[in-house]
Amino acid sequence: MTGMLDQLHQDHINMAELLELIERELRLLDGDEPADLALVYDALHYLTHYGDLYHHPVEDRLFAHLQRSDASIAAEVDRLQNEHRALFQKGKAFADVVQEIESEVAMERSEFKRLARDYLRAQRQHLDFEEQVMFPLARERMEAGVLDELEADLGVDTDPLFGRLVRQEYERLKSAL
Ligand SMILES: [Fe+2]
Ligand SMILES: [Fe+2]
Repeated sequence: MTGMLDQLHQDHINMAELLELIERELRLLDGDEPADLALVYDALHYLTHYGDLYHHPVEDRLFAHLQRSDASIAAEVDRLQNEHRALFQKGKAFADVVQEIESEVAMERSEFKRLARDYLRAQRQHLDFEEQVMFPLARERMEAGVLDELEADLGVDTDPLFGRLVRQEYERLKSAL
């Protein structure tokens, strides 16, 4: 059980590193050096795949389970689930515009930056919310051993970037971190 929370926490550290990389590249857009948008796209690809398809569903299941034995956390769990849905949409919208710009579709720079800032802010607020509110709740209230099967969905065997095997599509991203 603690192993799973440790892995979720490690995922947050990894995600924060990717957000940092995205921000670094976006800052270049204001200067003379070209930003590496392919790298931004790869980071978003990871965040919207491993993040949205593995990490968030594990959290959803973990906290839905906690809520069944403790209805008092319903508002927090609601917020968590809503934020997961919003992050999925924002991540997709941001990844789409990165791809459009890469394929040289004309796009308002201000609109691009708005989507980027919106995504980075939402991701960071969500990570803080989970680290400061949700994970302490889980550590305090979760009985040991209950959700061991969830661990199989996360970590060194499933993570295609920070796990044991780096998938080929992420090799360039990995070496940029
Ligand atoms: Fe989450
Ligand atoms: Fe999380």
